Amino acid sequence: MPWNRRHLLTLEELSLDEIRLIHATAAAFKQDLRREGRRVSALVGKTVVNLFLEPSTRTRLAFEMAAKRLRADVISFDAASSSTTKGETLRDTAENIRALGADMIVLRHAAAGSPLYLSRILDIPIINAGDGAHEHPTQGLLDTFTMQEHLGSLNGRKVVILGDILFSRVARSNIHALNKLGAAVTVVGPATLVPPWLTTLGVTVSHDLRGALADAEVVMLLRIQHERQTTTMFPSLGEYTGMFGLNRARASWLSPKAIIMHPGPINRGVEIDSELADGARSVILEQVTNGIAVRMAVLHLCAGGRPETVEAARS
Ligand code: CP
Repeated sequence: MPWNRRHLLTLEELSLDEIRLIHATAAAFKQDLRREGRRVSALVGKTVVNLFLEPSTRTRLAFEMAAKRLRADVISFDAASSSTTKGETLRDTAENIRALGADMIVLRHAAAGSPLYLSRILDIPIINAGDGAHEHPTQGLLDTFTMQEHLGSLNGRKVVILGDILFSRVARSNIHALNKLGAAVTVVGPATLVPPWLTTLGVTVSHDLRGALADAEVVMLLRIQHERQTTTMFPSLGEYTGMFGLNRARASWLSPKAIIMHPGPINRGVEIDSELADGARSVILEQVTNGIAVRMAVLHLCAGGRPETVEAARS
């Protein structure tokens, strides 16, 4: 199946075949990286700019490593010392970056829809690295890629996403991908963060943690997104943890084969205890590692590469 997109903006708009194509391309890159540690020359001569206007550790570094492994020149924009602090707009910033020779922009921004906005202004690929509470498509892709490595096909698999769903772009992207891959998704948390209308996304809404965990094959924890909450969503962090934090006692409700995921950053002792985050069932650092191959696949495909050229592009 060919890839006909220049941008990666959302997982909502991708077809099942497109998600599978990214996963297959990522698997080829991962195998190549594991076997040889070699770089692939798919983006030689291209300049990728990481335009991150919100904080990031994993996503920014993984995009940087992915682009470098594809032999692109990579520039990471330093928002704090940039002219955005003097009032320069996103549009002007991006147009200037394009004028300086950028061939692709990876954008993280607090405003939902900002990658779509840039994609309509600039003539180069725009990759969404997280836009407000809307979507974080490469996170959804790497999470489902990691689940498939452990479970095989996700068709009919039970996935629980636990925590602040309302303000989570990670939850939204995962829900779109998981629905297309055939998984049965349950979202769990306090009613303020997991409102009934979320069923319109095609998931089951539950406030019964024990019942939801009992048949889960995957449980994904999400942190509380304080930076997006404008009102008090629960009495205190301690009370949230007391009701919904994953600790040893609650993890015993899970099947022994269930895997534990978290997109990071983790607030240890709030949404998950350290012994579980670091325990045998945790695949949290595998998610981070898989982020490189998945982002290589996204950059490669959006730059016009074909899955079959992964082999040919190897140096
Ligand atoms: N998962 C994720 O987006 O982490 P960062 O905010 O560190 O990029």
